[in-house]
Amino acid sequence: MALLDIKGLRLAMTSFDGETEVLKGIDLTIPQGAIAGVVGETGSGKSLTGLSVSRLVPTPPGRYLGGRILFDGHDMLAASEEEMRALRGTRISMIFQDPTTNLNPAFRISTQMVDAALAVASRDPDILSLPATARRRQKRAVARQLAIEMLGRVGIVDPAQRIDAYPHQFSGGMRQRVLIAMALIGRPKLLIADEPTTALDVSVQAQVLALIHSFVVDRGLTVMFITHNLGVVAQICNEVAVMRQGEIVEAGPVAKVLTSPAHAYTRALMASVPTREMKRGDLSFSVDPVEAAV
Ligand SMILES: Nc1ncnc2c1ncn2[C@@H]1O[C@H](COP(=O)(O)OP(=O)(O)O)[C@@H](O)[C@H]1O
Ligand SMILES: [Mg+2]
Repeated sequence: MALLDIKGLRLAMTSFDGETEVLKGIDLTIPQGAIAGVVGETGSGKSLTGLSVSRLVPTPPGRYLGGRILFDGHDMLAASEEEMRALRGTRISMIFQDPTTNLNPAFRISTQMVDAALAVASRDPDILSLPATARRRQKRAVARQLAIEMLGRVGIVDPAQRIDAYPHQFSGGMRQRVLIAMALIGRPKLLIADEPTTALDVSVQAQVLALIHSFVVDRGLTVMFITHNLGVVAQICNEVAVMRQGEIVEAGPVAKVLTSPAHAYTRALMASVPTREMKRGDLSFSVDPVEAAV
């Protein structure tokens, strides 16, 4: 059964030049355990789709015109804010492109991870495996232990020492690992990763993709992987949905969509992915994506 089922999702956003429909009837189904890519150029509505699932689009300026989002039996657009808070971190988590905007530079990584662990534990006490009557100090100590374990799990060497570092003492790739650790500390079922490797250089990007993949294999994590990069989709995803101007123009298994794209826009996106054989100057959006889809 699908873990996430989006049907006919329509969202309008109001900006200085009025209200525009930015999601025009999105249908997207993600089965349990899949890594589903959502790909498309900037402005196609990928982030707003991801944010809608965790109900993080502010309304206003956003306004839902129709559709529904079913996640693990919850009707997300109808859920109360209290219900949503209970789901975030424990059932559904997000990571974003730029780790510097997500980690607070003023606090040690340990402080931020322990706070994250305590926050999820306040909603799901099983996370710390402590009785509800446990004292605050005891909870903090167990949360710190859990944070160290998670840091080790995401590949930070010597996590018991390094956890007390400040974010600036970590590289960009390490900071993204920390954010993955924080997002997954509450054992969510769904991770929404919005361009998580875009700010990283290619070799580090590959390591972070391998790390996310390892959680899918080990824990049955399901991932909505948002990217503008079809090369990344080919590396990590088994399903893909191609977005253009607020609509999904093509979706299906990666092997099928990338080997025989049915839609001209998908072919145009693929033409913009560099290959090893290319020479300088070869890379271009060889088909104009707007023209291509007409
Ligand atoms: N806060 C906002 N107010 C008004 N319009 C917005 C807002 N956020 C996004 N949009 C518009 O919605 C469209 C989709 O945005 P987004 O989902 O961020 O695209 P993507 O992630 O694919 O680059 C864009 O045209 C963007 O200009
Ligand atoms: Mg985006």
